[in-house]
Amino acid sequence: MSERNSERTLPPKRTGLPVLGSAVSFGRDPYAFYDDVASHGDVVRFSMGTHDMVGVLDPDAIEEVLVEKFDSFRKPERAGGVDVLSDGLLLADGERWQTQRTRLQPLFYRERIENYAETMATYAAAMAEERAATPEAVDLTEATSTYTLRVLGKTLLGVDTDEHRRAVRAGAEAIRERSSQNPVSVDLPDWLPTPGNRRYRRGVEQLETVVDDLVAETEPDGDGEDILSTLVTASERSDEGPTESELRSQLITFLFAGHETSATALTWALYELGRKPAVADRLYAEVDDIVDGATATLADLPDLTYTKQVLRETLRRYPPAAAIFREADEDVVVGEYRVPADTFVVLPQFYVHTDDRWWTDPDRFDPSRWDGIEEPPGDRPEYSYFPFGGGPRHCIGMRFARMELTLALATIAGHCRVTHDRDDVTVDVGSTVHPGEPIRATFSGRE
Ligand code: HEM
Repeated sequence: MSERNSERTLPPKRTGLPVLGSAVSFGRDPYAFYDDVASHGDVVRFSMGTHDMVGVLDPDAIEEVLVEKFDSFRKPERAGGVDVLSDGLLLADGERWQTQRTRLQPLFYRERIENYAETMATYAAAMAEERAATPEAVDLTEATSTYTLRVLGKTLLGVDTDEHRRAVRAGAEAIRERSSQNPVSVDLPDWLPTPGNRRYRRGVEQLETVVDDLVAETEPDGDGEDILSTLVTASERSDEGPTESELRSQLITFLFAGHETSATALTWALYELGRKPAVADRLYAEVDDIVDGATATLADLPDLTYTKQVLRETLRRYPPAAAIFREADEDVVVGEYRVPADTFVVLPQFYVHTDDRWWTDPDRFDPSRWDGIEEPPGDRPEYSYFPFGGGPRHCIGMRFARMELTLALATIAGHCRVTHDRDDVTVDVGSTVHPGEPIRATFSGRE
């Protein structure tokens, strides 16, 4: 530690109940909890279970953690007790992460991703038509996750995921539930036969079976067109390729991260369209004007300005990733304060995105706040809006997700009006920001 660092003081501390620390009040109301944290400052210590944590609420300090002082932080070791992801890109660290990122990055170049536009839009049209043909209301999360999983399988993985859908959804749900538990229960050993541990194991075993089947079906002469063949080929052909356990963990990472977050975003966007007729009407007007024949194309993307605003606002108000976690690798200065080595650092997107210092009337879903703003977040500090993270570990699927969501929303709007009977869904903040209650929606044809 440099002398300058050692002279800094520790961040102010929010006191919570002994032993359980802040977990109880966070579990009760995460927004109120962070209001209380914020009343102590922008970089604040608190304890959560047995962990000492520092919450960072100031955009410049968030940028320090993610970008400028990237090398002083690592991903938290236990990372919510989701061991099945630990060898994949989301949680790997150091050189292992760098090797994986370098191997996979070319699959996410713009030219590659643009090839997927037609699949993304065609599958959205099929989903809309199929749903519109059945008058019954459907569960919105179920509909959107079926869609994003199909797209992921066909494009980035190069496989048909339809027959594995149930198993992947069960696994994704188990991972989400597990990583949303408060740190107190995550500290219990994994082998304890608690109901949570049993559910997690059951879900994960289903995912492992899917992945083993997919790997067994993939020939190692792949031309690197998709993630599965790139990894299987690297694993078979080179000593430096992924080990069997890395391969499994990587595929589970992509099956989970590649569909769950986008589905959640699409669910929230459709929920808001269903309760805000003025937003829906402006979207339909744009789509009718730009999209020829109801199914959007790559060429339409630059002109789908309002569609993108709706999605930008969705990712502000309901950032699917909820919060980003790091662990200090060494003593490091964040903002004005010294953060000791091994401290957990949390960057809560869901809270920063609704901080009224940067966002007027922040709880209101209002895509028109992005009118005329080309580069989010406009004239606010850059890290007042970071739905895809930032710095070297920003979301590798960002371009893919933005394109998929824009094409899907425009295409669904081209085909259907989506309505539902809920106006009051709770925002459930766990490892994702997802609807607290099921939303049952009706898709009806627009003709
Ligand atoms: C709306 C959709 C999405 C959101 C909001 C989102 C959000 C994020 C965020 C915030 C991170 C950074 C986590 C951190 O710094 O700790 C991240 C990383 C990651 N995301 Fe996404 N994501 C989305 C879609 C996707 C998709 C479609 C894929 C894959 C196809 C994907 C794969 C990943 C992976 C593998 C990482 C880890 C990258 C690394 O550490 O190098 N995500 N995502």
